Amino acid sequence: MKIGIIGTGAIGSILAKKLSAAGHQVKVTNTRDMATLREIATNLGAQAASLEDVVKEVDIIIFSIPFKAYKDLPKNLLQDVPQKVTIMDTSNYYPFRDGQLTGLEGKTESEYISQTLGRPVIKVFNNIMEYTLKHKGKAAAEEGRIAISVAGDNEEHKKVAAELVDQTGFDTVDGGSLAESWRQEPGTPAYCTELDAAALKEALAAAEKGKAPAVRDAVMGKFQNSKLFPSNEEMVTINRSTAAGDLK
Ligand SMILES: NC(=O)c1ccc[n+]([C@@H]2O[C@H](COP(=O)([O-])OP(=O)(O)OC[C@H]3O[C@@H](n4cnc5c(N)ncnc54)[C@H](OP(=O)(O)O)[C@@H]3O)[C@@H](O)[C@H]2O)c1
Repeated sequence: MKIGIIGTGAIGSILAKKLSAAGHQVKVTNTRDMATLREIATNLGAQAASLEDVVKEVDIIIFSIPFKAYKDLPKNLLQDVPQKVTIMDTSNYYPFRDGQLTGLEGKTESEYISQTLGRPVIKVFNNIMEYTLKHKGKAAAEEGRIAISVAGDNEEHKKVAAELVDQTGFDTVDGGSLAESWRQEPGTPAYCTELDAAALKEALAAAEKGKAPAVRDAVMGKFQNSKLFPSNEEMVTINRSTAAGDLK
């Protein structure tokens, strides 16, 4: 498939590398000048493209940029992109980093992103940490394969997203509609807790509406209070225990 990725940071670069290794034709963009972008793209096995060109003649577009950056994208960016193109979004909202955003209140993060882009998105790759995505993928049916949830309103596009997730080494669980996607936002039991498919399904069902922001902020407080930057294992432990109710 032809895939355009916007953002070559922690998540976008891993996705570009894994998906081009899986045989897809990948092009990438970021905010750098074209010479720097070309160097980055080559190292990822991808082609460099401008923001305008990265969304042209592709089957899938993956946005992997900071949550606060969407509002500043050109309003007509996806205007000529056919409806059959799957638009995927990996983003998460952290107020301490992204600030207060007009239009977010009362919506799930993905509903806000869909409204900002003017197109429905599939929320995916948001509830897996960079380290996990890079190092913990397994072959299909291998024991202990970690799962990622996929939320959205278009079943065909969710299937496309699930296939890509599989190719990066992870199982998927249906996260429901975009309106339900709060169940996989930061601070929920499903968020970056490295669960297999059965456990992730339970975690999504166990999420309690309205609780996640306090848990999310408590997790960040614990990370900041760590003497050293916590390891992946420590972060998973903190995510799990805080979501289970240990806010201190
Ligand atoms: N890090 C994680 O563990 C993790 C896990 C799951 C989901 N997420 C979410 O996924 C998203 C990306 O996270 P990340 O950690 O990969 O972020 P990151 O390392 O900060 O990378 C962000 C990328 O977005 C690019 N970018 C920013 N504004 C842009 C614009 N207007 N046009 C084109 N490119 C733009 C940046 O370009 P430059 O390189 O030129 O600066 C950079 O390549 C975030 O919303 C984050 O919350 C992160």
